[in-house]
Amino acid sequence: MNTADHIWHNGEFVAWEDAKVHVLTHALHYGTSVFEGIRAYDTREGTAIFRHHDHLKRLEDSARLYYMDLPFTRDQIREATHELIGRNGFKSCYIRPLVFRGHGPMGLDPEENPVEVMVAVWEWGAYLGDEGKQHGVRAKVSSWRRISPQSLIPHSKAGGQYLNSVLAKIESKRGGYEEAILLDEHGRVCEGSGENIFVVKDGIISTPPQTASILDGISRKSVIEIANDLGHTLVERDIARAELTLADEVFLVGTAAELVPVREIDDIEIGEPGQITRELQSVYEDALHGRAPAYEKWLDVVPVPSKA
Ligand SMILES: Cc1ncc(COP(=O)(O)O)c(C=O)c1O
Repeated sequence: MNTADHIWHNGEFVAWEDAKVHVLTHALHYGTSVFEGIRAYDTREGTAIFRHHDHLKRLEDSARLYYMDLPFTRDQIREATHELIGRNGFKSCYIRPLVFRGHGPMGLDPEENPVEVMVAVWEWGAYLGDEGKQHGVRAKVSSWRRISPQSLIPHSKAGGQYLNSVLAKIESKRGGYEEAILLDEHGRVCEGSGENIFVVKDGIISTPPQTASILDGISRKSVIEIANDLGHTLVERDIARAELTLADEVFLVGTAAELVPVREIDDIEIGEPGQITRELQSVYEDALHGRAPAYEKWLDVVPVPSKA
């Protein structure tokens, strides 16, 4: 990971090495944080943040579900992020806003603990590797089930909930795979450890619905819209485990990973990325990099600071 010069913390721009919290920060002990993963790309119009508004809305929603009021408006966080990217001089970067319960009374009732906000940016390449984006990754269905809405809140991108993804990721990596696919509590296909999933069979694209304990992914929404615009048939429906390995094509989508084909699941070959995966990947990449006029609506162009 490349570092940056500045981080935004509670309304101030601070040097990377000075962005610190107390060891009794509530979120460190109990996972009381929510966050976003966002990317900015170098486009013809300048540095542009992909679906920035949607990510900040989800951040606010994630916080609300855990009874946290953001001490900054979405616009304030947006403008701070613009300035942060400018100060760090990045043309493209990963953006990590984090809202967390800070140092205060210790114990499980967090409501007296201050809600802190920080935004960090850094330069970060393809999460599952360039080779994975080209030729597909090897995945394994995890022995860990995705968190259930009976105990936690799959719709909230909350820090503590990510212990679930961490266990799945470690298991898959130690087993020699690049990614884990989690089933939901009922044994239906849910998602990757940090990506939503799509399967293609006989020309029809399917993806698990909102009720399958998924994170309501922003890349997922984008790919659904692109697939519909391209005239494909796309259905949101429950997917059985065996449908993964019997699929013609499988791919994962997420902000960090972007669109990544899956070439093998549970040691059963699916094959090199198929035609629909390739087509969607190409249009999606164009959308991310500002090369698709139809999807320019998704770009939040970072203003260039005027020279006084
Ligand atoms: C568990 C999980 N599912 C899905 C996604 C994909 O979401 P998005 O496309 O909004 O990045 C992510 C990444 O944020 C994730 O962590």
